[in-house]
Amino acid sequence: MQAVRSRRTCRAFQRRPVTQETVEELLSLASRAPSGGNTQPWHVYVVAGMQLEALTDAAFVHLRGMGKQNSIELEYNVYPRKADMPPDLHKVYMSRRIQLAESMWRLRGITREDAAGRYRMLLDNYRFWGAPVGMIITVDRCCDRNAWGHAGLLLQSIALLAVERGLATAMLEAWGNLGSCVYDALNISMDREVVWCGVALGYPDHSGDLSGIPTDRLDVHDFCRFQGFVSRQNFKVVIMQKKKGRHAAHFGVRVVDFVLDARYGEEEAVQDAIAAGVQVNARSHGGSTALFMASANGNVGIVRKLLDARASTDLANDAGNCPLHWASLNGHVEVVKMLIAARANANLKNDFQKRPFDEALSRSHSEICETLAAVTSFEDDIPADAEAAEAMDLIDSAAMHAVVPAKATAQPCCSTAKHAADVQEGSQEVTSEKGSMAQSQAVAACQHEPGATGYMGCVGADGFGERLARECEAAGVTTRLLVDREAATGTCAVTILDGERSLTTRLGAANMYKLDHAKQPENFTLLRSAKIIYSAGFFITVSPESIDLASRVAEMSGAIYCLNLSATFVVQVPAYRAMLEKTLPYCDFLFGNETEARAYAEAAGWDSSDIGFIATRLSLVPMAGKKPHRKIVITQGAEPIVVAERGHVTLYPVPQLPSERIVDTNGAGDAFVGGFLAALLRGRKLADCCQAGSCAAVTVIQHSGCTFPREPSCTP
Ligand SMILES: Cc1cc2nc3c(=O)[nH]c(=O)nc-3n(C[C@H](O)[C@H](O)[C@H](O)COP(=O)(O)O)c2cc1C
Repeated sequence: MQAVRSRRTCRAFQRRPVTQETVEELLSLASRAPSGGNTQPWHVYVVAGMQLEALTDAAFVHLRGMGKQNSIELEYNVYPRKADMPPDLHKVYMSRRIQLAESMWRLRGITREDAAGRYRMLLDNYRFWGAPVGMIITVDRCCDRNAWGHAGLLLQSIALLAVERGLATAMLEAWGNLGSCVYDALNISMDREVVWCGVALGYPDHSGDLSGIPTDRLDVHDFCRFQGFVSRQNFKVVIMQKKKGRHAAHFGVRVVDFVLDARYGEEEAVQDAIAAGVQVNARSHGGSTALFMASANGNVGIVRKLLDARASTDLANDAGNCPLHWASLNGHVEVVKMLIAARANANLKNDFQKRPFDEALSRSHSEICETLAAVTSFEDDIPADAEAAEAMDLIDSAAMHAVVPAKATAQPCCSTAKHAADVQEGSQEVTSEKGSMAQSQAVAACQHEPGATGYMGCVGADGFGERLARECEAAGVTTRLLVDREAATGTCAVTILDGERSLTTRLGAANMYKLDHAKQPENFTLLRSAKIIYSAGFFITVSPESIDLASRVAEMSGAIYCLNLSATFVVQVPAYRAMLEKTLPYCDFLFGNETEARAYAEAAGWDSSDIGFIATRLSLVPMAGKKPHRKIVITQGAEPIVVAERGHVTLYPVPQLPSERIVDTNGAGDAFVGGFLAALLRGRKLADCCQAGSCAAVTVIQHSGCTFPREPSCTP
């Protein structure tokens, strides 16, 4: 069932090859598909590598020929011709096709008028959308149309088995338009077989623009007519008859009736059934219990009776949903509270990997989210130990390379990279200044509107921690700091040589931030009421579950969610990149610099170091739910800022500062984000946001550490 639900036509594949053994195993299982009289009227031609390319080339040559003749030689109509269709049906079909096509064009930045762009996209069908394996399915020509249906069952089996193996498919009836060229290229007897469909098979590239476009389906009642079933109205009669019998004898309460009574709010009937000794945890169709049905439908009185009768709160139905899932999805606050009071497990995931909290979020039931946040654990998203260890190695070696002997400063920090040097508070060789990465963004964002910015992080119970809180408050930043009594506030040694800085950090308490802090009611409320939520990418290494929460709360509340790549290791370590990619659909703005962007492209196996290309591609990763399209903002030092939106790139210039005025480049990128967000909060256009960001960056690099002049030097 999982495979049926998650299968999507994939039109973006990784280059990773698929072995012949894998395809063979898949096809031999798929051949278990039923066919009338077990005739198995299908044939499958599988191509990879040079053979695939040769087939594509043949298709292109054929298409060019068609273009010259201005005619298309078709064996059959892939879609019925307008003339052959009832007008109402033609309208319906066209609207569905156009809806799909427009989603695809939008993702590729193609307009309806752009005939060349649309043609280029059509050609991708014949490249098998970049998949490493292509298949051509034919049917024995002597068969009638029912045999095409049998081959369809084979196709669906291929698609579902592929999902189970982490692979993806695209069915390509576009190949049906090119039958004659396919017979030649693959040496198929045209007299005996007819080409029906192509199939692209490979590992999906989830960061690709067309890896899985959401598509609608009709409601079951819109395409299906049920006959001969007992309707709910008739059922009432059945209940009455049943009740009479039930009073006469204390047995014979049918489970199906009990569960349906719970569903339709028949409180008295449920009470009777319990009194008659019904098994309260018995399951009906789809594995649903009475408590599940009553919870899903918000029948508070029945839920109370069932809980009093010790009904189990955590029995899942066939889709893995428990009573709490559906009460949360349907917004039944009181039922959710009753289930939690009865110790229902809020961490159970259904077959779609969703917890009750996720279901409530998906429908924006904020009160339920708040109730569930307190009892939900988000910790299973933390990278595995082995990957975390790999991360530590990478980071430590990076930090070692960064040390340059020069003047040093020490700063408290709340979220940064990892440590390599020991800096003591009050040490003779160091000077001490306030500042951390995310904190400097908060300060920069707050410059023009004191009190508008809040900052969450973790400090130790020491002087640095107190100082950081004090300095933030003085700058008008509201702090919500978790104080860890075991760890020291993070510190960072900054070495500066010719205005260029190197950081050597000891994260200490900054590494100790916990999701529970974000879930505390006053902090959760702050998150929920924010217009913009910003997470430093470093935070992925500290509390990925908090990023998960923040990004999804933003989706629910309609806030703008922003993430920073922050460092190359964040995109290089597989577990961190996986978290980044998981969060990307929720990101309205993704910030980074050119080095981080290139590291991402390299880690993702993209064959380009062109910042415009990388930003474009990241901008096209589909958004979650109904979020508007994402903007990618890549800074390049003194070079123009690259902003990509829906696949289009715009360059914004940055002011040039004479090198003698640069004191310390520390915090430039972070200040940029702060200034940018301050302007964004005021509803400014992207160009103005970039200008405000550049101004904050140019200001901060004229001072030592993450410090700003008292009076803002530029207006967002
Ligand atoms: C037999 C068959 C042929 C198809 N041919 C094409 C095709 O040539 N090009 C394409 O982009 N999509 C093709 N599709 C994909 C459909 O557009 C897609 O299945 C439909 O929009 C539903 O989306 P979903 O598969 O992601 O659920 C085909 C699907 C089927 C079942």
